[in-house]
Amino acid sequence: MLSETDISDFREAGKITAKVLKEAEKLVIAGESLLDIAETAEKMIAEEGAKLAFPVNIGINSIAAHYTPGIDENETIPDDAVVKIDIGVRVNDCIGDSATTVDLSGKQDKLLEASRTALEKAIQAIKPGAKVGEIGGVIESTIKEYGFKPIVNLTGHKIEKGLLHAGVEIPNVKTPDPYELKEGDVFAIEPFATNGKGYVNDTEEVRIFSLHAPGNVRMRQGRKVLIHILDNYGLLPFAERWLHKEFKSKLIVNATIREMVGKGMLKTYPVLKEAGDGIVAQFEHTVLVNKDGCEVLTK
Ligand code: CO
Repeated sequence: MLSETDISDFREAGKITAKVLKEAEKLVIAGESLLDIAETAEKMIAEEGAKLAFPVNIGINSIAAHYTPGIDENETIPDDAVVKIDIGVRVNDCIGDSATTVDLSGKQDKLLEASRTALEKAIQAIKPGAKVGEIGGVIESTIKEYGFKPIVNLTGHKIEKGLLHAGVEIPNVKTPDPYELKEGDVFAIEPFATNGKGYVNDTEEVRIFSLHAPGNVRMRQGRKVLIHILDNYGLLPFAERWLHKEFKSKLIVNATIREMVGKGMLKTYPVLKEAGDGIVAQFEHTVLVNKDGCEVLTK
């Protein structure tokens, strides 16, 4: 159960998420550096007195999630791109998670509308006693009415203090999942719509990790990396880029990450790409379930 303080921290995290997302959205212009966008948003979160709940995700066209620029990134927003920005903020471990899509091509407004409307309808369907699998059904039918496909293997997720993915999911399709929402639950809802095949695949690229099970690392420098992760990110996702900034020696950071992944100490978040190279749109809000329905925290 959330205390009054927790609720006000969730509200604060949500407010900052919304504010930073709105600013980050303005930076989505063809030719703009991805690293600049991510770092600007991350800096704004710090200036608000909050922390990151995960690295700023920038998903271009068929990249659905888990892409964040590297420290030496030269990549820029391509012409005519469809760009998702996904931002996570924490205030005393209470998390806000919100995403939006910008269409620079001017050709994907229906796709964006499908995802945006699915989010609105899911929010309207949220109330104590509603089953998550049925909310998935609302998302699925809304996206299909527009002639697109929901991404079946991406989901919204229950949020708990210090936990971005707290076990329960809100699917993007109808499922028999019987979990019933209850007052005080916090959920991120994120309908992903695509004109591709309707599911994502892992790519080889991994830029984001989270601590799974702490253990021993061989090198003394590596132990410093582990302690830094524990102290600063806990179990929340972090960017390789953040460690490269903190430790200067890329070699040590990379060797430590490799060792920890090999030992099962780190969870990896591979960059996710739509299976049919379809364009992906995503809108996301974090909500707090209350007795009448829900309060949108990231608005
Ligand atoms: Co998100």
